[in-house]
Amino acid sequence: MIELSASILSADLLNLEREINTSLKAGIDWLHLDVMDGHFVPNLTFGIPIGLSIRKRFNIPVESHLMVENPDKYLDRYSSFSRIITIHYEAPVQISRVLSNIEGFGSLPGLSIRPATPLYVLEKFLPDIKYILVMTVEPGFSGQKMIYEAVDRITVLRDYREKEGLDFKIGVDGGINRENISRIASLRPDIIVSASAIFSGNIEENINFLKSAMKVVTDGQ
Ligand code: DX5
Ligand code: ZN
Repeated sequence: MIELSASILSADLLNLEREINTSLKAGIDWLHLDVMDGHFVPNLTFGIPIGLSIRKRFNIPVESHLMVENPDKYLDRYSSFSRIITIHYEAPVQISRVLSNIEGFGSLPGLSIRPATPLYVLEKFLPDIKYILVMTVEPGFSGQKMIYEAVDRITVLRDYREKEGLDFKIGVDGGINRENISRIASLRPDIIVSASAIFSGNIEENINFLKSAMKVVTDGQ
């Protein structure tokens, strides 16, 4: 089964509790927290306080997607509300050390790459990580158009995982919408992340649409 992860980047933050409640009732499986620091990416979003508030109120698993220059900072605090903590390969830190710190704090270590970064750079990390987040837009903003060239990475990673007997999950993040959801689901990632296709307009209707498109594809395979 493919899981749906709701990125609150496109949610109405002044009504976040209500929007998360609606999404939960409509059947989302994860919440995705896009943490941006205005340095690693130009945009600035939210971080630990929002994550802690979510954890106090909701039980849903959270994946924190750290688009920050110093993802080695405050990992103990991120791990207190995150099941997965995903860092970027392009961050100027010692990646394997940060991944093992994440695991040490009790979260699952995830790694993401920008669409322009070649996939092979991930190879040496794959045995030690639990999650690869394939970016299908340039990180920084929700509501962008999908970069379709990056989509094939899902298949390459699935084949590699099977060949090597590894057990990381594959997520896909960026530009997913009603038009491309079936195509993306047919590539069988484990988690599909969406912000604008969930939070623009009627949340319940959006989630129902995405989930049934995902189900049709997976039932038919
Ligand atoms: C982009 C973020 C994505 C973004 C997805 O930097 O990592 O998670 O919120 O937004 P949509 O689904 O609108 O492309
Ligand atoms: Zn994200």
